[in-house]
Amino acid sequence: MTDRYAVIGNPIAQSKSPIIHAAFARQFGHDIRYEALLAEPGDFERTVRDFATAGGRGMNVTAPFKLDALALSDRLSDRARAAQAVNTLSFMPDGIVGDNTDGFGLVFDIQNRLGMPLAGRRVLIVGAGGAARGVLLPVLQAGPASLLIVNRSEEKARALAEPWQDAHPVAAGGLPAARGGRFDVVINATSTGLSDCALDLGQGLYAPGALAYEMVYGRETPFMADARAQGAAVADGLGMLVGQAAESFRIWRGVMPDVARTMAQLKSAFPG
Ligand code: ATR
Repeated sequence: MTDRYAVIGNPIAQSKSPIIHAAFARQFGHDIRYEALLAEPGDFERTVRDFATAGGRGMNVTAPFKLDALALSDRLSDRARAAQAVNTLSFMPDGIVGDNTDGFGLVFDIQNRLGMPLAGRRVLIVGAGGAARGVLLPVLQAGPASLLIVNRSEEKARALAEPWQDAHPVAAGGLPAARGGRFDVVINATSTGLSDCALDLGQGLYAPGALAYEMVYGRETPFMADARAQGAAVADGLGMLVGQAAESFRIWRGVMPDVARTMAQLKSAFPG
């Protein structure tokens, strides 16, 4: 029997998840159907429960419903609880399990595809909204020498770092706190890449051999252009997207897809 999955969001037509999961299923010869579901605000819970009642096995959740998915879950993984957001639902006989694979996708892409182990590195996260909170625990678990979180509104960065400061080398500040910091890895978790807003982080941000990671994908953002001008290696968030999808597939299907192979397929299907 064909197992059913879906991604739910609003808007959803742009989602690459159906293509990515179809590619994963082909890698293993699995018989699945993965569709994109549009839900109106206020209709999220009904749409999810209808899908589960109709035999759906799992769902990915994207904007603006990751908090609704958290509230709907009967059980949460540690990383979903830390992220305070759910992007992966599994419909089990005894209830709905919520997980968050975004941080896994980011760390997997940086370490495995881009070849930059985070252990012992000096890492900077710019931004303190949902995107930053979603990846914080997996980044800390990778064991960086230090993690600095900076944000336009400094108090939000401080609030994000505070619960982790006893157990991890994490600090927080306003954007100027990053100036001249010579970081090994800089992750842009602000929404500036979506609006092409400039993000002035000053000169001397990058150590030799550093990596600049933009969470947005599919476009050259001002953050990426600045990082190139400063001599850093640059990546956009396509690998994170495929990585989070792969971890969702593993949760549901018990096998881990080949992320690099899937990315190559996506790039040839969507050049540029
Ligand atoms: P997301 O879920 O994408 O993280 P969000 O929770 O609205 O969205 O957070 C957006 C992030 O981008 C915040 O860190 C925000 O900074 P503030 O908390 O100070 O608002 C950051 N951001 C948005 N526009 C920015 C800009 N022009 N310059 C710097 N940071 C910006």
